[in-house]
Amino acid sequence: MNGDVVKTIEFRIRRYDPDTKKSYISTFKVPIRRGTTVLDVLNYIKENLDEKLTFRRSCRMGICGSCAVNVNGKPMLACYTQVLDLNADIITIEPLSNLPVIKDLVVDIQPFFQKFRKIRNVLIKPPESFKVQGEFIQSPEDLKKYWDLTLCTKCSICYSACPAAIDERYLGPSALSTNYRFIADSRDEGLEERLKPPADNIWLCTSCNSCTLFCPKLVNSSDAIVETRSLLVESGVVPKTVKDVLENVMRYHNPLGILQSKRMAWAEGLNVKTYPKVNRADVLFYVCCLTAFDVRHREIVRTMASIMDKLGVNYATLGIEEWCCGDHVLRMGEKGLFEMLAEHNIAVFQKFNANSIVTISPHCYNTFKNERPYKDLQLNVQHYTQFLAEAIEEGKIKPTKPYNKRVAYHDPCFLGKRNQVYDEPRRILQSIKGLELVEMRRNHESSFCCGGGGGRVWTEEAEPEKRPCIERVKEALELGVDVIAVACPLCIATLEDATKVLKAEDKIVVKDILEILKETL
Ligand code: FES
Repeated sequence: MNGDVVKTIEFRIRRYDPDTKKSYISTFKVPIRRGTTVLDVLNYIKENLDEKLTFRRSCRMGICGSCAVNVNGKPMLACYTQVLDLNADIITIEPLSNLPVIKDLVVDIQPFFQKFRKIRNVLIKPPESFKVQGEFIQSPEDLKKYWDLTLCTKCSICYSACPAAIDERYLGPSALSTNYRFIADSRDEGLEERLKPPADNIWLCTSCNSCTLFCPKLVNSSDAIVETRSLLVESGVVPKTVKDVLENVMRYHNPLGILQSKRMAWAEGLNVKTYPKVNRADVLFYVCCLTAFDVRHREIVRTMASIMDKLGVNYATLGIEEWCCGDHVLRMGEKGLFEMLAEHNIAVFQKFNANSIVTISPHCYNTFKNERPYKDLQLNVQHYTQFLAEAIEEGKIKPTKPYNKRVAYHDPCFLGKRNQVYDEPRRILQSIKGLELVEMRRNHESSFCCGGGGGRVWTEEAEPEKRPCIERVKEALELGVDVIAVACPLCIATLEDATKVLKAEDKIVVKDILEILKETL
């Protein structure tokens, strides 16, 4: 390491001793210069401070993928990560998650590589066609379809960050995107064979986006998984649970299979304005299927309506003309059905003259903000936590009653990882007197998914200990909190279910931020 020392940083390294089978932390102070990487730091410690420190590295150029570790909770390549970019005075380095640790920072990557044995990662083509054609010429357009997927270095970062990979049946993001890389290649003729390995396990993906977010080579495994699901849907090879959800949406326009005429049952006794009686309002309040139909969620949406009433907001809902936003349908690969839902909703948005939308669910929020054709409308879309945080900061809402509880906030993936909304939900909780807000071990970008996205909330059939929600509630229990605060209907459904499975309902409760806020107003 050359150049002037910019600062000295404390590194806490989680190590594992295979003889005693114990993990422990070693702390080292290391001088950091401009350009010093995390791998330089590990080398420095080994050469100068503790020669027994064990870690993997080879190319030192981000090619071999062997130096992946968790740095301050996020998986990354040690040789690719400059220490000063981390902007931290204390840095914790740990072995990758989801993989057995061999020694110190070295994990056993066999479980990750074994998944590749289930797919063919060479072109499938009858030998004669090789002979006849002699060479393959690919157009740039053709290459574009899968080129990014070829950049995968098999570092196992995506696998270590994947909540679905706690179930060993799941092939994992890298193997699935490699499989799709060949599907997208026009020279490959093995579609039928390619669709077999993912057919029964690809539905475990929760669309949390961690694989894409943390990939050092920007491989979009998340989209490759949706594309593969799309082909499975097209070929009719889908589990009954998935088929039922898609059929419900097709017939009833919501995944629960409940008649649309019941969609406004939540508003009974309230004076909620509804389209088409009202065809113009400042804010379109988009309720979400689970919130509208499931009685567990009724108080949440009623509270939001009451708060908007008190604030004097001129809002209205689409009433029974609100169809599912289509997020799950899209992630499940049913693009045609998604388009049908979007076409309907957009037509009503336009009749309603909507330009501002407030949503209860981060999934509706993400869909309207980022998915075509909704995105093209360029609506001002807010999640309710953004709307309320603003109102609290402007002094329009004042939580006055104390809430004397220890609370951990669970970041919903579609709000956090997909849209970087981390602060507003926390700011609402921090505005409440008596509430002690603590952070889960995995928080913000490295938060661990509840397991409900990508349609899995409707199709869950994994054994309890293989469900992400169980792991997440265990993490909250270790923290000794009274409440897990959430801001997404799917997180309520999955995490609350996990407290029941773990028989921990008397120790911990799951509450939406709106439910907590209601108790303090
Ligand atoms: Fe090869 Fe980091 S040492 S990728």
